[in-house]
Amino acid sequence: VVPPKPLSLKEEEEEDEAEGKTKVCIFYGTQTGTAEGFAKALAEEIKVRYEKAVVKVVDLDDYALDDDQYEEKLKKETLAFFMVATYGDGEPTDNAARFYKWFTEEHERGVWLQQLKFGVFGLGNRQYEHFNKIAKVLDEQFCEQGAKRLIPVGLGDDDQCIEDDFTAWRELLWPELDPLLRDEDNANAASTPYTAAILEYRVVIHDPTTLSVEDKFANLANGNATFDAQHPCRVNVAVQRELHKPESDRSCIHLELDISGTGIRYEAGDHVGVYTENCAENVEEAGRLLGQPLDLVFSVYTEKEDGTPLGGSLPPPFPGPCTLQTSLARYADLLNPPRKAALLALAAHASEPSEAERLKFLASPQGKDEYAQWVVTSQRSLLEVMAEFPSAIPPLGIFFAAVAPRLQPRYYSISSSPRYAPHRVHVTCALVYGPTPTGRIHKGVCSNWMKNAVSLERSSDCSWAPIYIRPSNFKLPANPSTSITMVGPGTGFAPFRGFLQERMALKEDGVQLGPALLFFGCRNRQMDYIYEEELNNFVEQGALSELIVAFSREGPQKDYVQHKMMDKAAYIWEVLSQGAHIYVCGDAKGMARDVHRTLHTIVQEQGNLDSSKTELFVKKLQMDGRYLRNVW
Ligand code: 2AM
Repeated sequence: VVPPKPLSLKEEEEEDEAEGKTKVCIFYGTQTGTAEGFAKALAEEIKVRYEKAVVKVVDLDDYALDDDQYEEKLKKETLAFFMVATYGDGEPTDNAARFYKWFTEEHERGVWLQQLKFGVFGLGNRQYEHFNKIAKVLDEQFCEQGAKRLIPVGLGDDDQCIEDDFTAWRELLWPELDPLLRDEDNANAASTPYTAAILEYRVVIHDPTTLSVEDKFANLANGNATFDAQHPCRVNVAVQRELHKPESDRSCIHLELDISGTGIRYEAGDHVGVYTENCAENVEEAGRLLGQPLDLVFSVYTEKEDGTPLGGSLPPPFPGPCTLQTSLARYADLLNPPRKAALLALAAHASEPSEAERLKFLASPQGKDEYAQWVVTSQRSLLEVMAEFPSAIPPLGIFFAAVAPRLQPRYYSISSSPRYAPHRVHVTCALVYGPTPTGRIHKGVCSNWMKNAVSLERSSDCSWAPIYIRPSNFKLPANPSTSITMVGPGTGFAPFRGFLQERMALKEDGVQLGPALLFFGCRNRQMDYIYEEELNNFVEQGALSELIVAFSREGPQKDYVQHKMMDKAAYIWEVLSQGAHIYVCGDAKGMARDVHRTLHTIVQEQGNLDSSKTELFVKKLQMDGRYLRNVW
């Protein structure tokens, strides 16, 4: 656990009040930095519009050391906004999890936030079942606990243009904030149209002959006893192999990361965050588009030379000095479609006026449909867009601050158990590879890195990556004799491989195991039946009581895991009624949604329940932690 940052500056707050200023707190729950960016952008705009506002941007985790402190501090807030993302199966981001749990769990606080006016903006994706659940729940709870809602909850949809949703929500906010924050003497502030400044790091170019450039990212690792997103640990790739059979035209990689000597611990069901690299081809293309040599050595700063901060909303800098090559490989997201703010930053540096105009148009309200079509639906990568506007060459400080978002770690369900593989973290990763509407072949950054990774088995000069373990709730029952049913087609099998290894080890230690049923699914036995031998071995050794495989492309009709579940409906109902746990892992939009429906059908038919009782039964399973989903 990282030591918490120093908490609020009390004296400063008192001073602000004394001067007749009003404090505005903007909280964020962020995973990839978007919510944090929105929080900072909102703060900047409030500062510009309202002289009397003192704005604080706060990471929900840093706000309070414990639950009591949340209570004590929230009680004193009068104006607060929450920018919160929803992930996976309707979960909060890591940094919002503690707050969310405390704020929403059963409590006796009653109506205690009457002094607070608030607004919530959510970041989510409509393709998922629990669209913006965290934002909706917080919004409701704040009202229930007595706070006054200033503005309807904003439901940002990342499937379309979340920047537009945020802009629209902000426009609704000003009329509500004006009466609260507008200084009568300074009435013009709010009427001047506001344009966000383009973010820019201060860049210092170094003479590489006078300093040795080391890979600082790699050194963040060893020697640190605890690892997290900010402090990953460098580990080697010990084993890498293809899981698909030669007949398959797709690919799925089994990777083993060597964690010996690092102090890393994990449990079956946890996730591993992997910091990956862009491939050489894309790095070279980016260097070319930026008109800079890849061996250029530089550092980025968020402060001016005199140490005063640059703009409020700059993302934290990456470690330097480093080469352009390293910075493009490790820190820049080059393949996602660019945000509108990125297009505006490019426009500001386009020497060809027609290119600048077109970029500005795409980012404008009039260009909304064109942006949706030409950028989002066409899945045009940042590199593709930059290639279409060759005169738009942003300086490095702008490129890394405003054009290319930070490359994010990728999360995988760990497919091993520490009882079985104490020195290894196993990953099972499907290769992302295929044409986009523009004809570009999209190669998923991390899966292609894994596909091309060189293992220690093959070379001492093997591939490595910074990683950290993200704990999860997706765990085996505390009592090994509890019956379990697992549903995991494709790479959805990954965490269950960990579960089965764990059960195997328990069995070897003489522990009595409850029954375990696995529904696995793949296309065809000759192609993508991954870990086939291991699966059969789990059955032979008694770690798995029954293996049921749905082959979707062997017969004339699709055979899916949920069809197989219907065949076992009576059994599933029986064990569930007796306290079994049921687990689902895999694709959220298709499989997990369909399996969810099938589970309802089974409960309704087998239990002879009406639809509301069925709902209640399944809800209760979820509340009791007996129906767990790990979906993406
Ligand atoms: P398909 O590709 O033939 O449609 C692992 O990816 C397996 O999950 C594949 O056999 C795939 O079948 C199947 N699958 C795809 N969509 C599914 C859904 N909605 N429910 C269950 N399985 C699905």
